[in-house]
Amino acid sequence: MSNRPLRKVVIPAAGLGTRFLPATKSVPKEMLPIVDQPTIQLIVDEALRAGAQEVVVVNGRGKGSIEDHFDRSYELEDTLQKKGKKELFEQIRKISDSVRIISVRQKEPMGLGHAVLAARHAVGDEWFGVMLGDDLIDSEDPGIGQLWRVAQETGKAAVALMPVPEDQAHMYGVGAGPLLGNGPHVLIDRIVEKPPKGTAPSNLAVIGRYVLPPEIFPILANTKPGAGGEIQLTDGLAQLAAKGQLVGVRFNGVRHDAGDRLGYLQANIAYALKRPELREGLLAYLREVTK
Ligand code: UTP
Repeated sequence: MSNRPLRKVVIPAAGLGTRFLPATKSVPKEMLPIVDQPTIQLIVDEALRAGAQEVVVVNGRGKGSIEDHFDRSYELEDTLQKKGKKELFEQIRKISDSVRIISVRQKEPMGLGHAVLAARHAVGDEWFGVMLGDDLIDSEDPGIGQLWRVAQETGKAAVALMPVPEDQAHMYGVGAGPLLGNGPHVLIDRIVEKPPKGTAPSNLAVIGRYVLPPEIFPILANTKPGAGGEIQLTDGLAQLAAKGQLVGVRFNGVRHDAGDRLGYLQANIAYALKRPELREGLLAYLREVTK
């Protein structure tokens, strides 16, 4: 895949979001706001900044609000225009104008590997990015673009890796292997999903960004349910790793797990502190309540 620009990304957003119940009973967790933007909008923005032209969203039952968010909203636009709210109008119009969204359905949330497989026909026969709908990477150089460059340079699939404390490794997919050249990236030769405590092959956790070749689809179609009874993307990736075809990318940027309550609150504070109109007030409040 030499010198091809990133064109398509897949955003799996069909999970049940049980860690966020009851909020996620009728609102998808990907639509929960970070300050005033749904999490998935920040992820789509990262994809666009990396040059992607098409975003395939894997939807589940009751996730119509994601489609609506990226669609035109005539009544709202009309009202904003009539009221002279030009800036807001332009902001709202930009959301639907800047991206081509394709929705595919995952009928049952049978795991991340199964969700990626649901995007097979929309992706076709080309390399693509995967961005988890609840994982944020705050970086000027978009995370998915960093992975795309490494995949291009090496001709191998890529996953994002981040060091985590040893006692947390069992909550993630974990990758291990020798450094690629002088580093910092890793040629992954072992990758396991949620290793039992004390058995993780390294402290490098897989974070929700991937660049994959179309060959992953037949692999996933033949992958049996693994950890938690789900069809795991990690188990499909293990087959690429066994052939020396998987690189772990030590990306630049701050990652927030917006699908986790504490991670979500931290993300809101971090993004709010970057907003000039909110920063001083928020800092004053934080100082007050932590006295
Ligand atoms: P998570 O495991 O974080 O999502 O999957 P979840 O299952 O919704 O969350 P909890 O653990 O119950 O709170 C990471 C991403 O993959 C999507 C989710 O929507 C999320 O964005 N996903 C997961 C799917 O699209 N389909 C699935 O079957 C599983």
